[in-house]
Amino acid sequence: MSEIKFYKHEQIPVEMHKVKIVQQLKLLPADERLKKIKEAGFNTFQLHNGDIFMDMLTDSGVNAMSDNMQSAMFRADDAYAGSETFYRMRDKLEEIFGIKYCLPAHQGRACENILAERFVKEGNCVIMNYHFTTAKAHITRRGGHVEELIKDEGLISKSDLPFKGDIDLDKVRKCIEKETPENISFMRIESGTNLIGGQPISYENMKEVTEIAKEKGIVTVLDASLLQDNLYFIKTREESMKDKSIREITRMIADLFDIIYFSARKFGFARGGAILVRDEDMFHSMEDLVPMFEGFLTYGGMSVKEMEAMTVGFDESMDMDVISQGPLFIDYCVKELDKYGVPVITPGGGLGAHLDASVICSHIPQQEYPAGALVCALYLCGGIRGMERGTLSEERNPDGSERFASMELVRLAFPRRVFTLSQTEYVIDRVKWLYDHRDMIGGLRFTHEPKTLRFFTGMLEATSDWPEKLVEAYKKEFGEEA
Ligand code: F0G
Repeated sequence: MSEIKFYKHEQIPVEMHKVKIVQQLKLLPADERLKKIKEAGFNTFQLHNGDIFMDMLTDSGVNAMSDNMQSAMFRADDAYAGSETFYRMRDKLEEIFGIKYCLPAHQGRACENILAERFVKEGNCVIMNYHFTTAKAHITRRGGHVEELIKDEGLISKSDLPFKGDIDLDKVRKCIEKETPENISFMRIESGTNLIGGQPISYENMKEVTEIAKEKGIVTVLDASLLQDNLYFIKTREESMKDKSIREITRMIADLFDIIYFSARKFGFARGGAILVRDEDMFHSMEDLVPMFEGFLTYGGMSVKEMEAMTVGFDESMDMDVISQGPLFIDYCVKELDKYGVPVITPGGGLGAHLDASVICSHIPQQEYPAGALVCALYLCGGIRGMERGTLSEERNPDGSERFASMELVRLAFPRRVFTLSQTEYVIDRVKWLYDHRDMIGGLRFTHEPKTLRFFTGMLEATSDWPEKLVEAYKKEFGEEA
């Protein structure tokens, strides 16, 4: 079942699990939050978790485990080589994806590192529907470049298109012609997309684009980190797939690709990663990189306990009652904000709700990081931690100029099975208040700017005393303690 229907009550999503273990939350007063965000250099990655009320930074490694996942951890087989846990994990992945060869790695970006080491040479091109920060960084570090060939509609924030993660087939053909197949390391399809609002890609589009790649002899790679949401959207939005089971859809997708990798911090609800390789020779050509960078070939830097948990998590990702939770809560949040007039990415996608900072903070120039400012303002106004997904998350051009992001988003991630609907209502309420006071938000500037992945460790300051003024207005509305 994907959604429980109501009789008299308005339609709302219902949690399909019950709480067994809790973590106490603390809501710091607004003045304290102001102090904390200054100490964090106006970078939400630098906040301490204990100073946060609603941690919606990410769904990575922070999803709630099920009782079955936790109990599986007890049977983990600790061995440097030949752990039975690894074989259980590998067999489960083969059962689901139909791919035999498995290279374990400690998380998604470690898989990206191995793929870049193996396939990317100076001057090479990697075709993508859209990039992810770490995927791109590994490719550019090796002297390659990324061509993002998302359909133009994918970047329109307000829309009712069901598959905004689809790649543009004409752009793909033209790009292959320009670059030549020999210069293309691989084609990476991200399902669903991370940086453009968790928007899904259709099965049909994956089928068509992988056919083009095959025809030209280009290796196809699926980033399945966000696959569970994408599977839900294919089943509920793609007419020709509605009668197929999640397992059938997963297998149909897997059959299209030469390589599948994922972050098990997302797919599998635990912490780890893996690369699945169809061809034996290709598998052997990457094998040595695992013990070099990760750990022996039967753990790849992961804890065996986590591997046992994710093996159960993979099965749970094939269950509509489990995978529908994220998209349904996100959809609820997006629709409530949209009704109020808050600019959000529509339709709701996977991963989280995405606020359109380019509209909400249209008064802040892009070089003063409107999405970065909005995400800090939201922490001040409610203790909610989101993530900047805009220009701050980009790297500068080689000449030092800013590379302006095509979208300026604040992501409010919904870790799976973590927050209740009343907590979701709280977030909606605070975003509405902030939207009504959006003119008070000002810009940010760097005080310390790292060259690579600056959004993780960079430090910034406000361009004026707007944070102080915003906190005063907030306290007037909600009181000193709120
Ligand atoms: N691919 C996608 C689509 C991702 O969303 C991520 C991580 C990765 C690869 C890298 O995986 O973190 O295990 O190394 N996304 C996290 C996020 C960080 O918050 O969206 P990782």
